[in-house]
This record gives sequence, C-alpha cells and structure tokens, in this order.
Amino acid sequence: MSPRHLISPLDFSVEELDRLMDLASDMKSNPGKYAHVCDDKRIATLFYEPSTRTRLSFEAAMMNLGGKVLGFSSADNSSAAKGESVADTVRVVSCYADIVAMRHPKEGAALVASMKSLVPVINAGDGGHQHPTQTLTDLLTIRSLKGGFNGLTYGLCGDLKFGRTVHSLIEALSRYENVRFVLISPEELRIPSYIREELKTKGIPFEEVVRLDESTMKDLDILYMTRVQKERFFNEEDYLRMKDFYILDKEKMKVAPAKMLILHPLPRVNEIAVEVDEDPRAAYFAQAHYGVYIRMALIYTLLGIGGEG
Ligand code: NCD
Repeated sequence: MSPRHLISPLDFSVEELDRLMDLASDMKSNPGKYAHVCDDKRIATLFYEPSTRTRLSFEAAMMNLGGKVLGFSSADNSSAAKGESVADTVRVVSCYADIVAMRHPKEGAALVASMKSLVPVINAGDGGHQHPTQTLTDLLTIRSLKGGFNGLTYGLCGDLKFGRTVHSLIEALSRYENVRFVLISPEELRIPSYIREELKTKGIPFEEVVRLDESTMKDLDILYMTRVQKERFFNEEDYLRMKDFYILDKEKMKVAPAKMLILHPLPRVNEIAVEVDEDPRAAYFAQAHYGVYIRMALIYTLLGIGGEG
C-alpha cells in the first residue's frame, strides 16, 4: 500500500482536520498517554532551507511520542551540495526513517519527493508555494482560541505574494462557512492571481487594501501578520523598500477591535513591535506552541498508529 503524504492543506478533508485537531488537543492535555506510541519510529527532517520552529517542533513532536530523529538542517550538509536530486535523496532516506518532513526552496519539491518515497512525506514548506503544517498550526490556534472558523473575518497582512503560509491558510479557511478575507499588502506584494481567482470562483467575499489602519481592522476577528520574504526577492533594493511597510505597534493596537487576535507564523522582523507582545490579543507565541501538538497528531496519523491514517 502506498503511504499517505501531506503536500497541500487540502489533502485532509474538513472532517479529518477536525479529528486531527481533536487528537492534538488530547495530546496537549494528556501527554503521558502518547509518550511511547512511537518508541520504535524515526522521523527524518530534510531541511534545504533555514528553519527554527518548523524543524525543531517536528523533532520535539517525534521525541514527545517516544521516537527518534535524524536529518540535516541545510542543503550544504547534504549530498545536494554534490548535485544529488531530491528524488534520489528521499528514496534513500525513506530506507532509514519511517516518516520524512522536508523543506525545500523549490515549489513542488515535496510533491516530487512523495512520488519516490517509501514512507509518508510531509511538506514543511516548498518555496513560495505552500506550508501545510503551518496551516494546521494556525487552524488549531484559531479553533482553540476562537472556538471555530465559521463566520469569521480574517485579515492577512504583509507579503501575500511570496508568503507560503498565507497561500495555504487561505485555501484551508475557504472550506468553512461565511468566512471573509481582508488582504492587506503593498501593491507589489498582492496575493497571486490563482488564489484571487479561486476565491472568486468559490464566491468567497474578499477585499484587497494597502493600508493597515482603523478602518481596515474594524471588522477583523484575526489579523495574520507576515514578514516580507527577503529570500524570494530578486533584488535587495525592492526588499529594502518593502521591509518596513507595516509595523503593528501599541498605537495601532489602540484602535484595533478588542476581540481581534494577532497571529504570525514567525519569525518576525519589524512588522510587529516587541511592545505588542504584552497585549492579550497577541497570540503568536501560543501559536508556535500549538505547532508541536498538531505535528504530534500528524505524525501519529500518517504513521497509522491507533488505526488512524
Ligand atoms: C514561515 C515559513 O517558513 O514560511 N515560517 C515558519 O515556518 N513558521 C514564515 C516565514 O518564514 O516568514
């Protein structure tokens, strides 16, 4: 039987996502129950691009389940530096591990890997395309702190062009009822047209605005901030011009709704002032913590433990 992978946030149905989030919540509440379920399992983390949270939370997740970890944290430390293809690397690594989490600068790299792997492959970010496990993290955070997804207005702000977390999150949230998006970006960093077209086809209301001010924020339940994706720019000058376009600070938070949660996949650069961290609406560090539990649930599910998967 071929293994099940996670390449796009839509690879799980809404019902499966619900079960995954229920499992993650149970893992958070009852860690002891799951401490040895992966005692004989290994995860390989193949990271061709920098990462802190994603790689370490995958590794912590596997350790919390009793499993072991192997892998590399940069392309330079792997045979990619000698010219090996992703397909060959994953074919070999899938003989050493039971599940693979892979991040790569090229769009579609995880999909290619999944076609050659003998074990489940998880897309931990493929270029400016998708980042489904960040989306699972975001969904668990929203469900835990807001109680659900239906009927909410989601503001996404920053680099909507290159920000893969934004692309995955919009696709995932589009499956819920009565959602609305406010897409806040500089003209040059607007959402890719394929996502705009998908929203139109599905009849999901959205607006695109440039300014992050009181009138933009007034109806938001969630404000999802993102950094300008320096590594995807073709020239330094454009990046420097864009990098401080948005700075969410205490002043701006004074005019933001009391119910509006601030999320950010992190790392933050300047787009959220450190002073905002004290605001009770700032949920980005809690969000990073939820990332461990949803990855535990994902590993457990893709490995088919407990009949899941
Ligand atoms: C994000 C990514 O890698 O796309 N980081 C993460 O995984 N939490 C966001 C980013 O790098 O800006």
